[in-house]
Amino acid sequence: MTRRLARPVGITATGQYYPEKRLTNDDLSKVMETNDEWIRSRTGIGSRHWVEKGVGASDLAVPALQMALDRRGMKADELEAILVATVTPDTLFPATACRVQAAIQAKNAFGFDLSAACSGFLYALTTGASLIASGAYSKVAVVGVDVMSSILNMEDRTTCVLFGDGAGAVILEPVAEGLGIMDFEHRVDGNGGCLLQMPAGGSRKPASHETVDAREHYVHQSGSEVFKSAVREMAESGRLMLDRNGFTPTDLKLFVPHQANIRIMEAAAKRLELPLDRMVVNIDRFANTTAATIPTALHQAEEQGRMQQGDLVLLSAFGAGFTWGAVLLRWAF
Ligand code: UT7
Repeated sequence: MTRRLARPVGITATGQYYPEKRLTNDDLSKVMETNDEWIRSRTGIGSRHWVEKGVGASDLAVPALQMALDRRGMKADELEAILVATVTPDTLFPATACRVQAAIQAKNAFGFDLSAACSGFLYALTTGASLIASGAYSKVAVVGVDVMSSILNMEDRTTCVLFGDGAGAVILEPVAEGLGIMDFEHRVDGNGGCLLQMPAGGSRKPASHETVDAREHYVHQSGSEVFKSAVREMAESGRLMLDRNGFTPTDLKLFVPHQANIRIMEAAAKRLELPLDRMVVNIDRFANTTAATIPTALHQAEEQGRMQQGDLVLLSAFGAGFTWGAVLLRWAF
């Protein structure tokens, strides 16, 4: 059974923002025991952008969303909702969505943050689309943003080389029949939680001198276990989208996977029997920006003219939680 929205909803504009400071693998190799060859061959990453001290998620989300609004020719006060997917909010509360709302003066919008790590943008996308499909809303902004550099342990070379900072934003609106989100599937398996997490700083282990000394406010990951699950679930959820909607891989114009590791992305594409030239890649320049990988990749593909209205596009993600899922859509503009 497909998860069809009660009325067609699609992305009508995109935007993105990366902080200025760019670090190459060679830059990192000057401050830790690593090298360009290892990072490139194991992950596909060549460089990443990191914020300067004191810059929060909303500082990246605001220009990304403003770009999407400008490209749509929409005023901020037309927005009715702002959903921000992030695991690195400016503060635990208030929500980053509230800061974004105030900064862009979206005075008629409500908003909230959604925490699903690398799957966050896909969860927020279909949540926002469902608000519109309900008939109660018609203009919703969805932002995927993360400042991963704020939770990286620079003494752990197995994680700190993998992540970047960035934001991607989309505007969702009702669209013509046959366009927009066609189907989606989201899943969670909390048993995988301990394999990718930030152990301290929440209610279970509030910040203390001990948690800081133990470096528990940083990303902890069991890379190879996450790797295997990511390949399997991204491929299977993508395959589910194709099978239950009666499509073959060659019907897809583009495959836009979460960008955690080029080897994960290529393995998932191979299992989907998809030619690699249909896959959108930005991990080489921006690394893993968590909730921002898919909206920024969509923005870049759109800017490069790789999608036309009506093209079939598959989005697929896997992240901490474990969380994963896929969205099948027909590009709407
Ligand atoms: O977005 C959320 C989901 N996250 C993911 O999907 C990430 C999934 N996991 C991965 O992408 C990969 O597992 C990693 C990139 C994290 C690691 O790649 P790997 O091929 O699984 O490497 P490994 O952990 O097995 O490490 C191999 C070797 C080790 O050395 P020994 O023990 O064989 O001597 C590491 O110590 O590579 C070493 N190593 C490094 N060497 C240079 C680990 N990190 C580095 C580094 N530079 N940065």
